[in-house]
Amino acid sequence: MSQRDSGYARQERDLYETPEWATEALLPHLSKYRKDSAWEPAAGSGKMARVLEQHFERVYRWDISDENRDGGIVADFLLFDEEPDGYQAIITNPPYELATEFCVQAMRLTESRGGMVAMLLRTDFDHAKSRTHLFRDCPAFSKKLVLMKRICWFVEDNGKPKASPSFNHAWYIWDWRHEGAPTLAYGP
Ligand SMILES: C[S@@+](CC[C@H](N)C(=O)[O-])C[C@H]1O[C@@H](n2cnc3c(N)ncnc32)[C@H](O)[C@@H]1O
Repeated sequence: MSQRDSGYARQERDLYETPEWATEALLPHLSKYRKDSAWEPAAGSGKMARVLEQHFERVYRWDISDENRDGGIVADFLLFDEEPDGYQAIITNPPYELATEFCVQAMRLTESRGGMVAMLLRTDFDHAKSRTHLFRDCPAFSKKLVLMKRICWFVEDNGKPKASPSFNHAWYIWDWRHEGAPTLAYGP
């Protein structure tokens, strides 16, 4: 079943906000990385960026939409074509339909400075033969962090899920300084 027919109304431009616990699960896996700044290039309302500020001193927010942008810059991440200034880490929950493009672009923008990328994606995202360049054949792919709880993207005002979540997710981490095989870890 696709996310379109899973009982959730499709959100305009994929504004699925990541619940705090799912970003908090990543924090222990960031301890080896520099703390000065990170780039959240599809920040939406900033829900993920605010949790990342527990590790990074500054989290720069971008989003293509000017709604709910939490003070960030309105820009298309996929069209950005310069060397980033000062960013060592790019971390986001990309729009579902553009997830591969976001991974490729984030990898491109971090390679020359030996940076890292973390993306929250479906747990079978690394299965596709069309993505071996990002996983099996990518020396920078360093860790898959499996979330054992399912993410509920939409909740009622009383905190109850609007529908039962149908998909499992994982954090995928790439590190241009990584050596050796990727590791597997389990979160909440
Ligand atoms: C799945 S939401 C994630 C929001 C936020 N990262 C979070 O986890 O709470 C995806 C976001 O990507 C934005 N977006 C879609 N295409 C984009 C693009 N090409 N460049 C930048 N942002 C984009 C959407 O506007 C939306 O806010």
